[in-house]
Amino acid sequence: MTQNNRTVVPMTEAHVAQVAALEQVCFSDPWSENSVRSELENPLSAWLIALEGETVVGYVGSQTVLDEADIMNVAVAPGYRRQGIARLLLERLEEALRTRKVHSLTLEVRASNEPAKALYASLGYVQVGRRPNYYFKPREDALILRKEWEL
Ligand SMILES: CC(C)(COP(=O)(O)OP(=O)(O)OC[C@H]1O[C@@H](n2cnc3c(N)ncnc32)[C@H](O)[C@@H]1OP(=O)(O)O)[C@@H](O)C(=O)NCCC(=O)NCCS
Repeated sequence: MTQNNRTVVPMTEAHVAQVAALEQVCFSDPWSENSVRSELENPLSAWLIALEGETVVGYVGSQTVLDEADIMNVAVAPGYRRQGIARLLLERLEEALRTRKVHSLTLEVRASNEPAKALYASLGYVQVGRRPNYYFKPREDALILRKEWEL
């Protein structure tokens, strides 16, 4: 699947080190390389990678239980933001989950993360809850957002 010269593909071992490096850049509490790699062996997990050539420029990770999925993380490399990459990743993830009869996506987002909140709102996610002090580094509430669709 392409957008301009970009490709969205399922994560493989070839992407793990770059995903872990982006975790370090994008989050204060990043997943380790081994944690990312373990998702390859997890039958509940689906991760998609946005590539420009061989370079990982973004990714989204999800886990599905029965017919509901959670987004574990989504990030785009700083030099590639505001080009529609996160939107593309989330749309492709939703498409892939629909084919597996999944009917909702749920995620947590830092209450102060305005770019991410704007992204999710633009895709139809709505707030369904709040977890006080969910995050640390720095400590902050999480908003719980959810999107449901008809199958
Ligand atoms: C949040 C993040 C993934 C967005 O990635 P992105 O590829 O830049 O997002 P997109 O270009 O697909 O943006 C889609 C829409 O989201 C909204 N949006 C994205 N970034 C925004 C920003 N900085 N300010 C305001 N709105 C923003 C806009 O509505 C945008 O559409 P538009 O560009 O047509 O106005 C990226 O900023 C990131 O990696 N941040 C650090 C990690 C993070 O916070 N992840 C989310 C954890 S819950």
